[in-house]
Amino acid sequence: MGIKFSTRTGSVAGSHRAGASVAGVGDVALEVSDLVVRADNSRGFSELLHGVSLQVASGTMHGLVGETGSGKSMTAAAVMGLLPKGVSVVSGSIKLRDRELVGLGPKELHDLRGPAFGMVFQNPRTALHPMYNVGTQMSRVLEAHTGFSRRERRARIFEFLRMAGIAEPQRIAQAYPHELSGGLAQRVVIATSLICDPTFLIADEPTTGLDATVQRQILELLARLQGELGLSVLMITHDLSIVAQYCASVSVMHVGDVVESGKVRQVLHTPTASYTQKLLRASRLEFVTQRERATA
Ligand SMILES: Nc1ncnc2c1ncn2[C@@H]1O[C@H](COP(=O)(O)OP(=O)(O)O)[C@@H](O)[C@H]1O
Ligand SMILES: [Mg+2]
Repeated sequence: MGIKFSTRTGSVAGSHRAGASVAGVGDVALEVSDLVVRADNSRGFSELLHGVSLQVASGTMHGLVGETGSGKSMTAAAVMGLLPKGVSVVSGSIKLRDRELVGLGPKELHDLRGPAFGMVFQNPRTALHPMYNVGTQMSRVLEAHTGFSRRERRARIFEFLRMAGIAEPQRIAQAYPHELSGGLAQRVVIATSLICDPTFLIADEPTTGLDATVQRQILELLARLQGELGLSVLMITHDLSIVAQYCASVSVMHVGDVVESGKVRQVLHTPTASYTQKLLRASRLEFVTQRERATA
């Protein structure tokens, strides 16, 4: 087809979903270069990321896929400045647009989260504080990062809950996390993660643990919001079918390294890394088994 393919996603044009309304599609929203992360403990240290590089093109959804333990969440945590205790960045660079994040202090990183990037994780209920109702939690995020008045905050909370597909925002704003279903709780988390107008969203296994129908609804919601708001999204998953359906480009991780990056079509149809081929074979087997189960 004459499409030039690069093993780095930065040269990949924006996804069709993002549309032409987004200025600067094709720019790089996030660039991680040669990121080395290690964990220190009393017995010494172990390297968890061995020089991870990946790029997320502006206004697109980029998948980060790999089996459990490959370092996907560590990569995300490094980007967000939320590495667990004892784990640190040794070298490399993480650039959000032109801003270098490696070396920023905790206060600067805290101020960036919210306005700069939203975060959505697996298990939405643990992301919500059990003691406060939805409206209060969302209001606190706005208080921390904006100067909105009480009335403005209220209006914005309802607007974002509605945008996340919640039909009765007033009622849900009064609800406590334990009163919400998993899917509803994830919608609340998504609304909260976007309420400070970030341009970048990190979703780490956002639908793992939800049942299949709800999973689909949440992915459709994220895809819709990505397109409507022109977000750049790093979608972390162990599920290649999610990448195939929702992402424009993908990086494949294997034991602390990115082994392959590129457009989804290219990587899934003509993988170059042997690990990607293995992952594809395994997931095809899984699809077959699912189909067999369905027809059994
Ligand atoms: N707090 C921690 N301290 C040290 N090592 C960790 C910690 N959490 C996870 N790890 C290790 O880091 C590696 C990558 O984990 P992770 O990024 O969570 O993988 P993934 O998200 O791809 O399943 C694994 O080998 C895991 O055991
Ligand atoms: Mg993980």
